Amino acid sequence: MKTAVISLGGSIISGDPLDFELILSLSKKLQSMDDFDHLGIVVGGGKLARSYIEKLREFGINENILDEIGINATRMNALSIASFFENSNTKIPETVNEAAELMQIYKFVVMGGTEPGHTTDTVAALLAERTNCKILINGTSVDGVYDMDPKKHPDAKKIANIGYADAIALSSRSSTGAGPNVFMDITSLHIAMRSKIRVFVINGRILPEYESILKHQTTDGTVIG
Ligand code: UTP
Repeated sequence: MKTAVISLGGSIISGDPLDFELILSLSKKLQSMDDFDHLGIVVGGGKLARSYIEKLREFGINENILDEIGINATRMNALSIASFFENSNTKIPETVNEAAELMQIYKFVVMGGTEPGHTTDTVAALLAERTNCKILINGTSVDGVYDMDPKKHPDAKKIANIGYADAIALSSRSSTGAGPNVFMDITSLHIAMRSKIRVFVINGRILPEYESILKHQTTDGTVIG
């Protein structure tokens, strides 16, 4: 059984409220492919999650509750996106286990977050691990992993291949500053490392990237592992 998992970052699907044109094109592209039997798609919270969380935080709302709110946002996005796929779940699974069971039934399984304390990158890594899948595509707003933050350093260089340990070091270095989007969180990288899941970090808006990874395991982005 050939499976793959995509972590669809909230920043790339956000629009007003979602970028439905992108979602439509992506769903058409993925549904036209026969290079995998089952595909898990884990959807981020994007603008919806951020707008609630940032405002509520100003009122001192408990962080665990803010995470629950974020999870609800990811699930709302996930159900919206699942609706663009024919052979997919119509109820959003709340755990990785449930999603893994649904992956035996549907070609596409779309889900959001699971519990407080992590992001959907970690959910995607756990789903890949649980379904013995060796390919995890991380669709982000940058086109790969850079040696420095490309927004701050114009001379930052994109890395084509990086090992897990170096990716973890780079991710922890970039997560120490306030707020910047890290290419992938440390927990998800640890899960990928222990189960030897190859991670492809790509600009999630470039549709041919999904095809070249799922067909040939090649990318213009970064391969971790
Ligand atoms: P995201 O995974 O989208 O978080 O979940 P993010 O990395 O902050 O945002 P992107 O990558 O820019 O989209 C949105 C929020 O939902 C909560 C967290 O608060 C997270 O910041 N969440 C999500 C959880 O608590 N648990 C989960 O399993 C998923």
